[in-house]
This record gives sequence, C-alpha cells and structure tokens, in this order.
Amino acid sequence: MKGRILDILRQADSVVSGEVISDRLGISRVSVWKHVKGLKALGYDIRSAPRGYRLVRSPDVPYPWEVSKWADRMHYFSETTSTMDTARELARKGCPHFTVVSAGRQTAGKGRLKRKWLSAEGGLYFTVVVRPQIPVLLSPRVNFSASLTLARTLRDACRVDAKVKWPNDVFVDGKKIAGILSEMEADSDRVAFINVGIGVNVNNDVREVDPPAVSLREILGREFSKKVLLGEFLDRYEKALTSDSLQRVITDWKALTITLNRQVKIVTLKDTVTGTAVDVDENGELIVKLPDGSLQRVVYGDCFHV
Ligand code: BTN
Repeated sequence: MKGRILDILRQADSVVSGEVISDRLGISRVSVWKHVKGLKALGYDIRSAPRGYRLVRSPDVPYPWEVSKWADRMHYFSETTSTMDTARELARKGCPHFTVVSAGRQTAGKGRLKRKWLSAEGGLYFTVVVRPQIPVLLSPRVNFSASLTLARTLRDACRVDAKVKWPNDVFVDGKKIAGILSEMEADSDRVAFINVGIGVNVNNDVREVDPPAVSLREILGREFSKKVLLGEFLDRYEKALTSDSLQRVITDWKALTITLNRQVKIVTLKDTVTGTAVDVDENGELIVKLPDGSLQRVVYGDCFHV
C-alpha cells in the first residue's frame, strides 16, 4: 500500500487530497493518513496541507516498494549484523529464488577469507538468494556473473570505468569499489542455494578501508542513488542467470578483467602463490604461471596485482 500511495503522489507531483487517494486505492481516509504517517516515520518528507498531501523528498533507502519489481522478495533492515546471516536463515526456510536482503548498515559485515567488511551508512549492502538449476561444479559462475553484472551496471548506469578483478571484485582506476562474498549449500551434487553477498562503496566514507578503496561518490563528485543502483543491478542479474548467459560468463568476464597477463600474488587461507595470471578456466580457477614456467591452478584467494 505504501508503494501505491507513493506512486500516486509521484505521478501528481503536487498536492493530492486524502479523498482522491482513498478512492483510488479503495481504503478509508483514516487508513491513508496512517500510511502517510508511517511513510513520514521512514524518512519520506510528505507535507500535509488542508488540501491534501504532497511528496517533497524520498529517502535513498531500498525499501521493498522502491525496488518495485522485486518488492515481494525484498527484505530491508536499517541495521543488521550481516545480510548473509538473514539470507541464510531465509534460504534454509525455503524462500524463493531471487530473494534479496539489504541493509542500511551492518554491525558484523563479512568479507572473503574471514575478513571484516566495514559497512557504514551510505554503502549498499545486500545478499541475493539464488537457486540455479546447476551442478555444484558450475556454481562459481554465479559469482563471476555477479561481479561482471555489477561492473557492467556501474559502467552503463554511472558511467564509470569499472573492471572485474579475480575472483569477484570490481575495481575502478586501480581501487576496489565493490566486493562479493558467496555461501552455498547443496543437495548431493546439485546446488540448493547460493547466497551472493555484495557490498558496494556508493556514498560511504572509505578513508578507513585498507587496502585503499574508492566510492562512487568520490569518483562522480556527487552522491548516487543506492536504490537506483540496486534496482538496475537486480534487473540485469536476473537475466544474467539464465543458462545461456551462464554458459558464456567466463568468456565475457575475461573481456572485462584487469587480472590477466599481470604479475599477481594470490593469498589463500593456506599459502601464497606468486607468478603471472595467464588464464581463468571454465570453472573460474585462475591459472598462474610460476617463475619456473610451470602452471598452477588457484581455486580461491585474495589476488594482489604486483
Ligand atoms: C570481499 O571483497 O571481501 C567481499 C565483501 C562482501 C561484502 C558484502 S556486504 C553484503 C554482504 N553481507 C556481508 O556481511 N558481506 C557481504
């Protein structure tokens, strides 16, 4: 109902009487008033005048009704420990494919390799529960697809020179703008769900982040709407998860990567591999040419360009 009231106020772009809203939505005027009160409490600047209501400003919060196509599968929290925790609970309870959990800030944001992900106000933090009909072996493609889709979204919607870095980072001008963490559960050899957690530095302060990172606000010199970015990404990501797109995702990813043909140092939980990144195979493994000329495959790790 909140979304429908906002639609009416946005379309009118001026004062709309409570009577018009109640007639159009088939609810009482008292109910309209209660919903408007609720919207105001959520940060919407709605002016009430004797002639009705006028929407002056909407907050940049991805409330479910703001990302309308996904509204029935969107969960928003102003604060949570980690969207990965909530998404895992929902996924285990059987939530539908493409359920999205987002948060204004996270108190225990998780990065890859057990690192923390600083999640201050202004960033975009969300996890998508994906239920692809694929064998476990192909599951990394879902993550490659996420970083590729995000880089393409940033390029098209924000006009920034976003590139992908192995395994699943998005970089602009040599600095990280987004990271992806995923968790998977499987039934025998089929994927039950993959929770793809994405953190994007949008309007948050990244000065404390190490190694140095960059935000969209810094690059553009102005704030960018998180709800617009999330909506754009979700529309594209849903399409990118079709089997045709997943089939060619590694090839497409390679066309937009900054990792290949570079000297790299890969830090895994066990060891460190140094050499030249020569290729990424169909399972997303990085092939590194070692100083002695031999090739080593790396499944997962943190990649530093040296
Ligand atoms: C990395 O680059 O190390 C991965 C960072 C992933 C961060 C996102 S923010 C949303 C989701 N919730 C988390 O706790 N982590 C992921």
